[in-house]
Amino acid sequence: MVDSIDPTQVPAWNELRTRAESMSTVRELLDTPRDFLRTHAAGLSFDFSRQRIDGATLDLLVALANELQVELLRDSMFAGDHINTTEDRAVLHTALRLPFQAELSVDGQDVVGDVHDTLNRMRVCAESVRNGDWRGADGRAITDVVNIGIGGSDLGPAMAYRALRPYRQPGLRCHFVSNVDPADIASVLGDLDPATTLFIVASKTFTTQETMANARYARTWLTGVLGEDAVARHFVAVSTNQPAVVEFGIEASNMFGFWDWVGGRYSMTSAIGLSTLIAIGPVNFRAMLDGFAAMDEHFRTAPPARNVPMLMGLIAVWNRNFLDIPTTAVLPYSNDLSRFPAYLQQLTMESNGKSVRRDGSTVNYATGGIVWGEPGTNGQHSFYQLLHQGTDDVAADIIVVANPGPGSDAAHAAQHEMLVANALAQAAVLSCGVTEIELRQAGTTEDLVTHKVMPGNRPTTVVMVPDLTPFALGALIAAYEHSVFVQGAIWQINSFDQWGVELGKKVATGILRDIEADNTEDPDLDPATRASLTEYLGLRSEKR
Ligand code: F6P
Repeated sequence: MVDSIDPTQVPAWNELRTRAESMSTVRELLDTPRDFLRTHAAGLSFDFSRQRIDGATLDLLVALANELQVELLRDSMFAGDHINTTEDRAVLHTALRLPFQAELSVDGQDVVGDVHDTLNRMRVCAESVRNGDWRGADGRAITDVVNIGIGGSDLGPAMAYRALRPYRQPGLRCHFVSNVDPADIASVLGDLDPATTLFIVASKTFTTQETMANARYARTWLTGVLGEDAVARHFVAVSTNQPAVVEFGIEASNMFGFWDWVGGRYSMTSAIGLSTLIAIGPVNFRAMLDGFAAMDEHFRTAPPARNVPMLMGLIAVWNRNFLDIPTTAVLPYSNDLSRFPAYLQQLTMESNGKSVRRDGSTVNYATGGIVWGEPGTNGQHSFYQLLHQGTDDVAADIIVVANPGPGSDAAHAAQHEMLVANALAQAAVLSCGVTEIELRQAGTTEDLVTHKVMPGNRPTTVVMVPDLTPFALGALIAAYEHSVFVQGAIWQINSFDQWGVELGKKVATGILRDIEADNTEDPDLDPATRASLTEYLGLRSEKR
């Protein structure tokens, strides 16, 4: 196990602080060759040349990673050591993507064998749904799959379903229900026929309030039409909690398991990916796993200065701790990647939104930044104004997909070129801006010059994906997973627990009891919450 170190006390940290004070602008930096900031991994290209970083700074960041033993922690993760110390668990999502021939035993257990046994069971289930062998209670084939889950049990599969749109099986639709707001499930079920619907209840713990409420809602909807016996033909579960699955009424043979060493936000390549496998089929699903695995291997073996996730993570730390930039906009120029920013929000913010180091000591430096975004070009007509001329510095990741999906005709391809032109234009403007001198030279009237100045200097990474294939999607996600790891390792925090989400769940349970009992006097609540509860109970309609 690697002990916690205060990163601000290692030599490279202080040298980086000094360097940040005199760092040139992106525009100035672009005057000298920047090829060392352009690199490839697993078929994707990553261009960091619009970051506010030079060669000496990169060397110092690599030194920082050395001093903080990032590679040692990385190797511990891949080996299955219990680096999730507060839960005493290994962190082995990388094992989910290993090929069949690989070998890895953890705590005396053959991990690769277990992973492939589950993958095989998932494949059999997926194929029978896809080819119509899986029959519903009245003998009809399945046309609609509803994944009920939340957080890591929803965001990855929902994102991948959209991203891999061209690879879906025609005539077989997937839907994703996550919110405890009954409007979510009601709006999905409103269009479905119970006799041709298969529910996947996806929950690592099988205790999550939202998921269990939606699962009960779905079961009532289904059994109301088809009877109790239909549950076996219309519900499968993905979980680590077999007793709870069986108690819910789903047969153990219809449950797909995974392991405590798979964190929720790292679980889309586990059985949580069952809806993805049903949608895109076993060959494409394996290709996605191979993309993840290719980036895993790159991260495990490439030297730090050419290692994409290492560079992504170190540059994120540079922006956060030394350039004091608190937020990163993720801007996919791909409509099919529209849920990618939401997916990354959980991945990064649930992982690195921490204020204590692994040993429990409080940090005295910034940790996980705020990640958000929308696909381009929509965002350009919304919040980009603030990115370009607001008073806060925002870093940006622009993700470009070079080619439109399979089957696109010439008109489609031409429109796609407009999309790419916009992506590159925004990267140029965010990083280089436009000066007063240039505006005057261009004939701008004097009264508008200051209004039109664009400071630029927004650190921007351009990720280029040749085609949005299952392999490329896997590689892209794994790059971000490992970037998050690198950031957490530098900050010396545990990126794999999430204690901060627990208190809200507990308080909500108490408030629900108060609501059900019409209790406005709960002494456990603060005065503001009691007042809001009283207000709500006054407004609540009798129709319930
Ligand atoms: O509340 C946070 C969280 O625990 C996430 O980490 C997780 O992805 C999500 O809830 C769903 O959990 P489960 O899969 O156990 O239902």
